Amino acid sequence: MIDIKTELSEFSKKFNTDLATCFPLPDGAEKRVIEAMAYSVMNGGKRLRPYLVCECAGLFGVDYKTAFPAAASLEMLHSYSLIHDDLPAMDNDDLRRGKPTCHKKFDEATAILAGDGLLTYAFEYLSHSLEIAPDVRLTLIQLLSSAAGAFGGMVSGQTLDIYAVPTGSVQADEDIISRLEQMKTGRLLRYACEAGAVLGKASVQERQILISYARKIGQAFQIADDILDREGDQKIVGKTLHKDDSQNKFTFVSYYGIKPAREKAQKLINSAIEEISYFGAKAANLQNLARYIIERNY
Ligand code: IPE
Ligand code: IPE
Ligand code: MG
Ligand code: MG
Ligand code: MG
Repeated sequence: MIDIKTELSEFSKKFNTDLATCFPLPDGAEKRVIEAMAYSVMNGGKRLRPYLVCECAGLFGVDYKTAFPAAASLEMLHSYSLIHDDLPAMDNDDLRRGKPTCHKKFDEATAILAGDGLLTYAFEYLSHSLEIAPDVRLTLIQLLSSAAGAFGGMVSGQTLDIYAVPTGSVQADEDIISRLEQMKTGRLLRYACEAGAVLGKASVQERQILISYARKIGQAFQIADDILDREGDQKIVGKTLHKDDSQNKFTFVSYYGIKPAREKAQKLINSAIEEISYFGAKAANLQNLARYIIERNY
């Protein structure tokens, strides 16, 4: 059996080679924004979301080439969310994926534009992808925009993340924390799995199983991120740590402490593994990925 780290690293090699071809440099001074976009997308990253798209699509026999545009556009959108998340007005971070954040490497205006550029390009790229039938493309565009947006999507989650505690306008409780995490992180991970189902023309039941798996690993993923922020090794994590405490973020870790958070994540992962076993031996990678999500050290 190939272990999931090797599997992910082999996937990343192939995926990164293909993704790099999406960023040809134009002539002229405006190429600066493309350089900043490519810098942020191509600077490492675990590629979990694209891997999930391809792996979930693969359950239904969809090949990598067909799934690639959905995977690539999601990674572009995710990278935009990281550039903006790191901006001084948001989490004010200097380090991302072990390298200077986009606004540190370039400047703040370029980082804002690079985020705008990646968000827009994600949809442009997906809409042009002739490997995917037009009706399927439209469904993917609808799902991705809703997952990323302000009506219960990533942007709403980021809004809660930024404003909930510092203004004192919302009391911390488990419901808010889980809503916040489901939106800011869960929705893009859920989209990754749902995109696989849509590409694979999954039945309603199969799609529901993938969505439920994604919800569970999504929440566990953010808990693991919050644990790494408290206990990780900065050189390995590649981000400045202890930010959640210093910025009074609502997280399961800050609310309950490390041990209960770890137990909650483990329960979610056990349940996700059980749920995805519906697909039999084909789901082995997705089960291993679920385990990896809480065992990872970056
Ligand atoms: C980081 O996501 C942002 C969160 C949603 C917690 P990842 O941990 O997947 O970041 P990369 O893509 O591997 O850098
Ligand atoms: C970021 O959450 C989630 C999004 C970018 C949507 P965090 O702020 O916890 O992510 P990191 O820790 O900076 O990667
Ligand atoms: Mg943040
Ligand atoms: Mg952050
Ligand atoms: Mg974090």
